[in-house]
Amino acid sequence: MPEPTASPRLPRLVLLGKQGAGKGTQAVRLAEHYGIPHLSTGDMFREAAAAGTPLGLDAKGFMDRGFLVPDDIVIGVVEEQLAGDRAAKGFVLDGFPRTRHQAEELDRILGPNQLDLAIDLDVPTEVVLHRIAGRRVCANCGAVYHLDNPPEHDWTCDVCGGKVEQRDDDTEDAVMRRLELYEMKTLPVIQYYRRSGILAHVDASDEPDEVFKRLAELVDSYFDPGARAL
Ligand code: AP5
Repeated sequence: MPEPTASPRLPRLVLLGKQGAGKGTQAVRLAEHYGIPHLSTGDMFREAAAAGTPLGLDAKGFMDRGFLVPDDIVIGVVEEQLAGDRAAKGFVLDGFPRTRHQAEELDRILGPNQLDLAIDLDVPTEVVLHRIAGRRVCANCGAVYHLDNPPEHDWTCDVCGGKVEQRDDDTEDAVMRRLELYEMKTLPVIQYYRRSGILAHVDASDEPDEVFKRLAELVDSYFDPGARAL
C-alpha cells in the first residue's frame, strides 16, 4: 500500500478488475464525487463504433469477439485524451491499462503527472458472471443497469431516455474469452503497480453504495478532502 499524502491535488486514478467487477459503475461515481473526468476506453470504442468511424468499426471487430483492441490503437486514443496538461487536473481511468505495455506507455504519457493509485476491485468469478449475464446498458449514454436493478420505465434510460439493451460483447463466448485474456494480459498489470508501490485492493463484491464508500474512504485517506470539487 502506498503512503498517505497530504497533497491538495485532485486524484489520478486507475480502476482495475475482472470484467463485471464494477469498474464502470464505480468510475462514474468517483468522477462525479471528485469532479474529475471518467475516461473509459470501452465507452470510447463503443461511441466510435456507434458513430461508424473507421476506428470504431475496427475496434468493434475485436470487442464483439472478446479480444483486446491492439495496443497501438488504444494507446493512441488515451494519449489524445490526456494530451497537454489535462492529466494534471485528475482523472479516473476505467479499462486502461490492460496490458503491461499499456501500463508502461501510460507512465510515459503522464510524464510528471504520475498516477496516485491503481485500485484493484476484487470480486469472485462466479459473481462477475452473474453481473455480466444480467447487465444492460443505455445505447445512447452508456449508463449501466442490471436485470436486478433496471431503469424506472420499461428499459428506457433514467439519465437520457435512450434504449437500454444488452451489450454486443456480453455473449457467453466473448465473456469467457475476455476473462481468459484478463488472466493472461491484465494480471501482469496488477503486478506492475504492486512493484511501483501504488496498488490498493478493495473488496467490490458488496452492493454498489458500500463499494463506493470503501473507494472514497481509500482515496480520501491519500488526498486532502478539501481539494474535492464540490
Ligand atoms: P470495457 O467496456 O472496458 O469492458 P470490460 O473490461 O470487459 O469491463 P466490463 O465493462 O465488462 O465490466 P465493469 O467492470 O466495467 O463492470 P460494470 O460496472 O459494467 O471493454 C470492452 C472491450 O473493449 C474489451 O473487451 C476490449 O475489446 C476493448 N478494450 C477496452 N479497453 C481496452 C484496452 N485498454 N486494451 C485493449 N482493448 C480494450 O458492472 C457489470 C454489471 O454488474 C452491471 O450490470 C452493473 O450494474 C452490475 N454491478 C456493478 N457493480 C455491482 C455491485 N457492487 N453489486 C451488484 N451489481 C453490480
